[in-house]
Amino acid sequence: MNKPCTDQLKVSKFFVVPEKLGDIVINLIKIGIVVGLIAFLSLAFQTAFYKPSWRLLGLPEHLRIQNDSVIDNGPTNISHILFGLGGSAQTWHDRSNYSKIWWEPNTTRGFVWLDKKPKISHTELLVPYKISHGWRRFKYLHSASAVRIARIVYESFKLGLPDVRWFVMGDDDTVFFTNNLVTVLRKYDHNQMYYIGGNSESVEQDVLHSYDMAFGGGGIAVSYALAVQLARTMDGCLRRYFYFYGSDQRVWACVNEIGVPLTHEKGFHQLDIRGDPYGLLAAHPMAPLVSLHHIDQLSSLFPNQTQTQSLTKLISAYNLDPARIVQQSICYDHRRKWSISISWGYTVQIYTTMLSAADLQMPLQTFRTWRTSSDGPFTFNTRWMNPDPSKQPAMFFLDNLQMVGSQGSITSYKRFFAKGADKCNKSHVNVQVQRIRVSALKLDPEYWKNVPRRECCQIMEGGSIKGGNMHLRVKKCRPKETTTI
Ligand SMILES: *[C@@H]1O[C@H](CO)[C@@H](O)[C@H](O)[C@H]1NC(C)=O
Ligand SMILES: *[C@@H]1O[C@H](CO)[C@@H](O)[C@H](O)[C@H]1NC(C)=O
Ligand SMILES: *[C@@H]1O[C@H](CO)[C@@H](O)[C@H](O)[C@H]1NC(C)=O
Ligand SMILES: *[C@@H]1O[C@H](CO)[C@@H](O)[C@H](O)[C@H]1NC(C)=O
Ligand SMILES: *[C@@H]1O[C@H](CO)[C@@H](O)[C@H](O)[C@H]1NC(C)=O
Ligand SMILES: *[C@@H]1O[C@H](CO)[C@@H](O)[C@H](O)[C@H]1NC(C)=O
Repeated sequence: MNKPCTDQLKVSKFFVVPEKLGDIVINLIKIGIVVGLIAFLSLAFQTAFYKPSWRLLGLPEHLRIQNDSVIDNGPTNISHILFGLGGSAQTWHDRSNYSKIWWEPNTTRGFVWLDKKPKISHTELLVPYKISHGWRRFKYLHSASAVRIARIVYESFKLGLPDVRWFVMGDDDTVFFTNNLVTVLRKYDHNQMYYIGGNSESVEQDVLHSYDMAFGGGGIAVSYALAVQLARTMDGCLRRYFYFYGSDQRVWACVNEIGVPLTHEKGFHQLDIRGDPYGLLAAHPMAPLVSLHHIDQLSSLFPNQTQTQSLTKLISAYNLDPARIVQQSICYDHRRKWSISISWGYTVQIYTTMLSAADLQMPLQTFRTWRTSSDGPFTFNTRWMNPDPSKQPAMFFLDNLQMVGSQGSITSYKRFFAKGADKCNKSHVNVQVQRIRVSALKLDPEYWKNVPRRECCQIMEGGSIKGGNMHLRVKKCRPKETTTI
């Protein structure tokens, strides 16, 4: 209470000035006003007749740059992201169904870019579409649509929409987890040149294209500052790199001419794999899940469900706790000698052996490489998955979920028996658990600002299994707590 009073006193003293000095001050103020007026008028003239400085960047006249975003330093939110999905009139009929899973009308901004008018009517579509222009004049070796889709970043920029900080490109079969995308992009300054994404899971693909390329299906995030440069140089790049295969490769080559490296974020998933992505999502890297691609070419995430049903289910958990989706925690039931791995919102596994955290954080290889359907290698380590279901861990899949208060959740995972696993030997995975409930507090997105640490897991109710039910809790680790057998 004291401090403000003394401050006020000081202020009032400051204004008590001797009379003569007072005259000088008044004159000074008069001069100040005149100078200010002149400055103001010249500024007004300048703004009226000013040729904008982006001409210096060599941008064509018609590219109007909004400069508000340069001034607005508030945290990045969904309204600052302009999506540009690469589609075609032919594929959009079916694939627009995927956008219904994640696109929120009046919140998500952007367009799907098509080669021509689609047959389905406007009202059936959630994502507004635009027809790509000016791409047919470019030479190409493999596909004209690669040229067209590479140009989306340019065409999106050219729209000159206000308050865009990031241009995010994806395919029409990419599912984005937009909350997590915002969490990731918020870490970076859109006024610097950023090129963000992930590469391919299959080494053969990275060798063929590049480890340093953001693969388009997983999503490519381009900051405003980089988009300015890309818009300027894109058409030249398209002419120079006509022999490239994909659209993402053309963008990459162009970004390389500008000299900007890839900022690799592990939540962008090109999913260049064949088969079942289960292993990967059951042991996701410690990074927010940003995107999933190739979803119509992979096994359904949940058994006995279509991919659309599966994604709807996964997104229902994501909506409850976006930052936590598919984050892993590991528990040991020391009495029974079980290892338990949770991938929050998706699956739980029980192993009837004690496996170290180093083993459990390594994805089970339930998939093969994209191009040649080989047994690897991948850009991450994998564990061999025994094809004999009786030698696989007991698997549980998300079944129910509920919010507890405003900050907590209980997700429940139901036992799944692969064909033949129900008949197998009592001694192995035939654990008596049928359902696992997992309590957790909502993970603060701020968690991802710091170096992440895997959350700990606790077996509740003394590990009792009542009516086939087991209860676990995921929680922040105590400072000295470790996941130790
Ligand atoms: C932003 O644009 C306004 C006019 O729209 C202009 O007066 C102002 O000087 C510009 N600011 C910057 C930093 O370019
Ligand atoms: C996003 O941030 C801007 C300010 O940068 C604010 O005006 C706008 O309301 C915010 N939008 C949402 C959806 O939070
Ligand atoms: C997608 O939705 C349309 C109706 O909007 C339907 O006709 C089509 O069969 C659906 N495609 C898939 C693959 O689910
Ligand atoms: C989106 O906005 C339009 C007009 O602004 C409105 O008519 C429509 O109901 C809104 N849709 C949703 C899902 O909020
Ligand atoms: C698969 O789903 C169908 C229909 O929902 C159901 O009848 C069947 O029992 C399910 N099979 C398994 C193995 O869960
Ligand atoms: C069950 O396990 C025992 C011992 O490991 C083995 O002898 C027996 O053949 C197994 N039975 C089946 C059906 O796999």
